[in-house]
Amino acid sequence: MSDALASSAPTAATGARPRVLVVGAGAREHAILHALARSPQRPELVCAPGNAGIAAVARVVPVAADDVAALVGLAGRERADLVVVGPEAPLVTGLADALAAAGVRCFGPVAAGARLEGSKAFCKEVMAAAGVPTAGYRVVSDVEAGMAAIAEVAPTPERRYPAVIKADGLAAGKGVIIARSAEEAEGALHELLVERRFDTDQVVVEECLVGPEVSLLAVCDGVRALPLASAQDYKRIRDGDEGPNTGGMGAYSPVPAIGEAEAAELVRVVHQPVLDELRRRGISFHGVLYAGLMLTPAGPRVLEFNARFGDPETQAILPRLRSDLLELLSAAAAGGDGLEGVSLDWDERVAVTVVLASAGYPESSSSGDVITGLNQVGEEVLVTHAGTGRDTADRLVTAGGRVLSVTALGATVADARAAAYAGADRISFPGRQLRRDIAERVVEP
Ligand code: AMP
Ligand code: GLY
Repeated sequence: MSDALASSAPTAATGARPRVLVVGAGAREHAILHALARSPQRPELVCAPGNAGIAAVARVVPVAADDVAALVGLAGRERADLVVVGPEAPLVTGLADALAAAGVRCFGPVAAGARLEGSKAFCKEVMAAAGVPTAGYRVVSDVEAGMAAIAEVAPTPERRYPAVIKADGLAAGKGVIIARSAEEAEGALHELLVERRFDTDQVVVEECLVGPEVSLLAVCDGVRALPLASAQDYKRIRDGDEGPNTGGMGAYSPVPAIGEAEAAELVRVVHQPVLDELRRRGISFHGVLYAGLMLTPAGPRVLEFNARFGDPETQAILPRLRSDLLELLSAAAAGGDGLEGVSLDWDERVAVTVVLASAGYPESSSSGDVITGLNQVGEEVLVTHAGTGRDTADRLVTAGGRVLSVTALGATVADARAAAYAGADRISFPGRQLRRDIAERVVEP
């Protein structure tokens, strides 16, 4: 981050309404925009490319979320005071770097920082250097070395399988294979390293851990990491964690086992050392550092880092945030230890988010199915849009795999669940899929 940027006067001081460009088209970005819209600074909100629901809270501009050059041009034309980047792809390809070069403040890390998400091998290497608790691992580039690595990372010969094999690059959540036998492991290694299913020439072989998974996101200003409320995400398509992995079918926040004290301790041993290690390498990370954690019997272990807000965790986390999100993200983007002394104020209630997906998801998705009932969910239920669009008759229709997120707050988990499902059940479209067990069992201390 250049000095010119760090020292530029915040817009609020000049009295003008700040102009914010949010990049992305999902329910995560819709939830970010909702929270920004609550800011007392009354920002002017623009979203690229957005979707049919986002068009109700922001001016949507048809620029693709991965078109770095066009986004930099848009930020300039819109005279954006802040760009908030939702998805990982443009971060990994250098959107934050290009914005910094153009003198635009960005919430979202430079490519060298987003590499934590873009390369599993780099992520493990940084964790090793930073002393962060994670599964034992090897990086290999051929099948034979992979099979040998499985034996090396296993704590005992009996525990070689299941073995965890991860493609090194971005794989849209499909690059992790849990192999139950030597045959499956060999097949997976072959698929990744010989058939090159993803554009990667190395894989990470990891010790298989067990325990509940939680997500802990921290907002970072390059120097300091500030935890958001914890959340749990449901990755599989069907109840009971059955079926294939998806982008996420629901979430709740906070996780009872990870209250404010536990979150602060996790940030001390996980996020902060990574931020410090990046800084030692000359990388100033301004954005969300998202730790996917497994709470193992031996203590918490990091499974992965993401360099952005989680989806659908964000839809459950941000509706509980009482503090000004715009102030928080601006301070983090500005750098210069902008988060020093900042503490966040949260709604005491629990949030539960249920995702509605279209027919065929996650293998495929369905478009053009008419969505009804959105005006019947009640004001206390927040519906955020992902794959939605308008048909020629201006009706709201499905336009992707995950269609809507339905979030409700409640004094107890049971209340929040009941309200979220009551809202979800008012919404219908042909082929609608949802899980019925979101937050049915939560991770207790
Ligand atoms: P990742 O993209 O690295 O978070 O992996 C995706 C999913 O694979 C995680 O959410 C876990 O359910 C599972 N997974 C990843 N690494 C491990 C591991 N070392 N042991 C057990 N399960 C894992
Ligand atoms: N909820 C998982 C992710 O955002 O990657």
